[in-house]
Amino acid sequence: MPIIEPLLNENRIFHPSVRFAEDASISSMSVYHTLCQEAAQDSSGFWARLAREQLYWKKAFTKVLDESNAPFYKWFEDGITNVAYNCLDRHIENGHGDKTAIIFESDDGKIKRYSYHALYLRVCKVANGLRSMGIGKGDRVVIYMPVSVEAVIAMQACARIGAIHSVVFAGFSARSLYERIVDLEAVLIITADEQVRGGKSLSLKAIVDEALSMDRRQLACHVLVYQRTGAEINWHPTRDSWFHELEAKQVDICEPEWVGAEHPLFVLYTSGSTGKPKGVQHATAGYLLWSIVTMKWVFDIKANDIFWCTADIGWITGHSYGVYGPLAAGTTTFLFEGTPTYPDAGRFWDIIARHKISIFYTAPTVIRSLIKATNTDETIHPYRYDLSSLRLLGSVGEPINPEAWMWYYQQVGRERCPIVDTFWQTETGGHMIAPLPGATPLVPGSCTLPLPGIVAAIVDEFGHDLAAGQGGILVIKRPWPAMIRTLWGDPERFKQVYFPEELGGRFYLAGDGAICSKETGYFMITGRVDDLLNVSGHRMGTMEIESVLVAHPLVAEAAVVSRPDEITGEAIVAFVVLKRACPNGEEAQRLANTLREWVGKELSLIAKPKEIRFGDNLPKTRSGKIMRRLLRALARGEPITQDTSTLDNPTVLEQLKHAQ
Ligand code: WT7
Repeated sequence: MPIIEPLLNENRIFHPSVRFAEDASISSMSVYHTLCQEAAQDSSGFWARLAREQLYWKKAFTKVLDESNAPFYKWFEDGITNVAYNCLDRHIENGHGDKTAIIFESDDGKIKRYSYHALYLRVCKVANGLRSMGIGKGDRVVIYMPVSVEAVIAMQACARIGAIHSVVFAGFSARSLYERIVDLEAVLIITADEQVRGGKSLSLKAIVDEALSMDRRQLACHVLVYQRTGAEINWHPTRDSWFHELEAKQVDICEPEWVGAEHPLFVLYTSGSTGKPKGVQHATAGYLLWSIVTMKWVFDIKANDIFWCTADIGWITGHSYGVYGPLAAGTTTFLFEGTPTYPDAGRFWDIIARHKISIFYTAPTVIRSLIKATNTDETIHPYRYDLSSLRLLGSVGEPINPEAWMWYYQQVGRERCPIVDTFWQTETGGHMIAPLPGATPLVPGSCTLPLPGIVAAIVDEFGHDLAAGQGGILVIKRPWPAMIRTLWGDPERFKQVYFPEELGGRFYLAGDGAICSKETGYFMITGRVDDLLNVSGHRMGTMEIESVLVAHPLVAEAAVVSRPDEITGEAIVAFVVLKRACPNGEEAQRLANTLREWVGKELSLIAKPKEIRFGDNLPKTRSGKIMRRLLRALARGEPITQDTSTLDNPTVLEQLKHAQ
């Protein structure tokens, strides 16, 4: 990553303003240290206190953490609760039923608002509708929907009846969707006729139809369709039904399914470095607890905030900070269906100005692409918009380079708004290392310090602590309530991937490299240490992309690496050997396009390689191992400094050096 060196030399520091600190939920470093101490001295007491303060319990828990079957940790196990009750009913009972829960803006600018009470009524109806279809506790429901109020309702309705949802990002292919449906043995897919983004519509229902047509196991799977555009779609009368028709038939009272704290709330698939995507399973109470606590600590959420997390609901960020965290904390959350660049690259600033967004949470890749757009079109400069409602900015998904940080701070936040650079993962459920905006002095490019209760450390490959200033592997040494519980259907893989024996089997392995500053103890994330790529804040496995490429009839072999990219952080470069002669010139370009489209269709739109290079072979050792380090150097245009004497076929290097 190009970002590491400037980070280590960064000496700019930004202290919270007195005004911000005065009102903040954590108002100084000494409050932060007190919380850390409380957690260190009596970890059970600390988590129990938070869980009692922040959640509604139908039946109180008596046990806090059960470590007897580590790393399969259990939290608050004998407590009984319900997530939807905590997100909706509770606020209504506290007299906040009229408060706006969701403001939604569609791609073409139409706005919908729902109060907590109005949202509650729709969730109850849809929950009753799901029950009328025979769906109940523990059943799996796949949600393949655009960002919409109906998607939130679907998630909440599942939680209300104890069904386990799995949201699949609507950019994933029919095959990816199918694999998830099969892995989960889902009984229902909730989708939309179409999704509309950037002025273009895409038929999600057709992709669901295609996915189910791959089904050879005869899954008894129903399809519920939210009518977004009214487009013509194929209809299977015995299998398909309309969301609005189901909802209209129901009463608006629905007793929640009271579940144990450890009952699975959802499964969300994410890429691993080997094999098929992993179904990360989260539990009810621990997950919800941390989403509320981090809303309060990291986003310093206040009663009149309007909070916008730009992530799609198909990612963990959309789950924790688009839906669950904001609703559980009783916040007004803003949801946007569209893209940052439609109708122009000023759309986000325009939204902030019109809706008076006060907290804005996005990814570095978005910031970088808007910087670039601003450089060519002065009319969409953030200075042209009234962004005075903003009081806090957030960043997530990938390291933020100091230049982008400074632009965000100066041009968007006008030097008034702290930036919280939040490091976390699908598996962690919520933020892990992040500043507390009223307390932590900020350093561009650093996610600063672990949150109270989170025991982050940097170790070597044997699990031994490294001294500050030495780069190493990031681990979390103690369990926390929002942590992944297991991988759906694959507890062995869960243990191997996240609690490897090499590290003693007790540390959670994040999969990222990190370095800790000697002076401040601040953490800087240096990127993945495994075969995962991070493109525009989206995580992908090189293997996943390679296996899709080699599944194409023309392809004999493929290897995927990344190179740094100004906008997307990393960009995918694929080296491909065809079953026929190596193409050149126009033919190479045409075939590269074919393969790019293939990856888009077979895997995901976000996995399309930026560049494809063809060769007669790939650089291999005599034992046949592909030399990825060499490929990385080639992709980056770096001189080959490695010893290539073990290479079986050195001539291929020349051929692969240049893009066709
Ligand atoms: C990976 C997790 C939950 C966040 C959305 C992505 C990278 C995430 C940061 C950050 C540096 C970051 C890491 C991590 N990452 N946030 N603030 N600074 N890197 O979730 O798809 O599970 O990916 O994203 O590499 O391991 P994800």
